[in-house]
Amino acid sequence: MRVGIVGGTGEIGEGMAMRLSRIMDVCVGSREVQKAHETCDTCLISAKERGINCSVEPGSNQQVVDESDLIILAIPFKHVESTIRGITGWEDKIVVSPVNPMERRDCFVYTPPTEGSAALFIQKILPSNTRICTAFNNIAGNRWRDIDSVLSYSVPVCGDDPDAKRIVMDLVDSISELKSFDAGPLSSSHIVESITPLLLNVARFNKMKDVGIRFV
Ligand SMILES: NC(=O)c1ccc[n+]([C@@H]2O[C@H](COP(=O)([O-])OP(=O)(O)OC[C@H]3O[C@@H](n4cnc5c(N)ncnc54)[C@H](OP(=O)(O)O)[C@@H]3O)[C@@H](O)[C@H]2O)c1
Repeated sequence: MRVGIVGGTGEIGEGMAMRLSRIMDVCVGSREVQKAHETCDTCLISAKERGINCSVEPGSNQQVVDESDLIILAIPFKHVESTIRGITGWEDKIVVSPVNPMERRDCFVYTPPTEGSAALFIQKILPSNTRICTAFNNIAGNRWRDIDSVLSYSVPVCGDDPDAKRIVMDLVDSISELKSFDAGPLSSSHIVESITPLLLNVARFNKMKDVGIRFV
């Protein structure tokens, strides 16, 4: 399976690319292909320094969608609509949303669109045969990039297509010590997305870093 990361140059995108490209073929997408090249170089150098194989290719966001079976939308919520509408070929793809709509006011606040969640908004604007899952919403970008550290978080996965959800859960379980949990249909995504402002507030008010979740 080939995994594409739209916005693969960003805070979580690059860290995901570094980790995923060691275990599968990854395509890093950007609006500027040169930026995607730089992220791929970072992945390759980091893997080479550790004597690990790495399979990563740069491309435009359109190339990522064209060439991948599963696409992670690693872009801020405010740019999701323009990005999705600017790309064709979403039909039959699996799309993973780690997207959390939120704002920083006195503290971090969950600010979902009228559809109820980023995931349901994404579902509304993608073709009806695109299979969407929510995953990776609650892992801090720093933790992805801290490449030698173990990721031992729980990852809730929401989605309506059982086959797509199984594939996404298997993907989660292939990364470090992440453990996937079925968190229900896509309409439950608001619960998962809204955990992230909670984690950020807990980190801030308790002087902690990169707070995550683990179900026991
Ligand atoms: N950061 C975290 O710790 C974290 C944790 C969990 C979930 N998330 C979620 O993951 C998603 C990505 O977060 P992030 O912090 O990685 O974001 P980010 O670093 O701010 O941006 C990610 C990428 O989005 C692309 N981008 C920026 N402006 C754009 C525009 N106007 N149109 C299209 N693409 C644009 C950029 O790629 P190019 O310039 O290369 O095109 C950028 O590298 C968000 O939805 C966030 O809620 C983040």
